Amino acid sequence: MLTSTLETLCFVWIAIAAATHITLFFIPAPFGRHTSEKWGISMNNKAGWLIMELPSLAIMAYFLFWGTNSFNSFVWILFVLWMLHYFNRTFIYPIRIKATSKKMPLLIVINAIVFNVINAGLNGYYLAELSAKETYSELWLTSYTFIGGLALFVIGMFINWKSDSILINLRKPGETGYKIPHGFLFKYISSPNLFGEIIEWSGFALMAWNLPAFTFLIWTFANLVPRAKNHHDWYIRNFAEYPKERKIVFPYLY
Ligand SMILES: NC(=O)c1ccc[n+]([C@@H]2O[C@H](COP(=O)([O-])OP(=O)(O)OC[C@H]3O[C@@H](n4cnc5c(N)ncnc54)[C@H](OP(=O)(O)O)[C@@H]3O)[C@@H](O)[C@H]2O)c1
Repeated sequence: MLTSTLETLCFVWIAIAAATHITLFFIPAPFGRHTSEKWGISMNNKAGWLIMELPSLAIMAYFLFWGTNSFNSFVWILFVLWMLHYFNRTFIYPIRIKATSKKMPLLIVINAIVFNVINAGLNGYYLAELSAKETYSELWLTSYTFIGGLALFVIGMFINWKSDSILINLRKPGETGYKIPHGFLFKYISSPNLFGEIIEWSGFALMAWNLPAFTFLIWTFANLVPRAKNHHDWYIRNFAEYPKERKIVFPYLY
């Protein structure tokens, strides 16, 4: 595939992200607290997470080990960071979440597989097959984009993991309901886990500094900002005592 073809694919994919972003404010993605039986056939929640996130991990692993340029420069660092995130999301996160009777609609699993195949495909193919050796050279390791991006990625990952942990631990064994989360960044926003994920992929895009990585960041924003708004509105509807000063996803801003 030529670089120009991949760029065209990215722009089409960004246009779809914009349409999805608007839609998700009106129709919350039906998993977790927003799911219901009207979404058709559904499957075990934990298995759903594993099946839908695995393609992203597998595709990046494929391009890392079998890609043309993956070990000709320091580009492998980007693969490792991506795979670290998706190893958690595919294997560790589903083990840690508390089992409830809630199921995952097959529609969500299929959508997420398509999403992951396209994002990992664009990023993996670009990094392994199209990126120039000089782009990710030793000089890159000392650049502001690499150092700043890596710092953002690590901070974002920490915020995401810690916030997910706080939420998961709200339920004691056997409990299935919801409680108001407190502490850490929950003092400022309703969804620090989603905020952390946006920061993480901002860091990745800064480090990688290429169109597929920015395309993925745009998709992350497009998915997670409406999801955070849906979560925030859900808390307000369900808890009369929900803290009024808490923002949705960006501390002090939104
Ligand atoms: N990159 C992307 O496009 C993308 C898209 C979606 C999600 N994600 C990531 O996937 C992870 C999960 O996202 P999510 O929106 O499903 O997270 P979430 O709604 O905040 O839920 C996280 C976990 O905590 C439980 N939980 C949440 N709030 C709770 C409360 N108030 N009381 C008790 N338990 C609570 C949930 O249970 P229930 O399942 O029973 O609600 C779930 O097991 C996040 O780290 C997010 O960043 C990424």
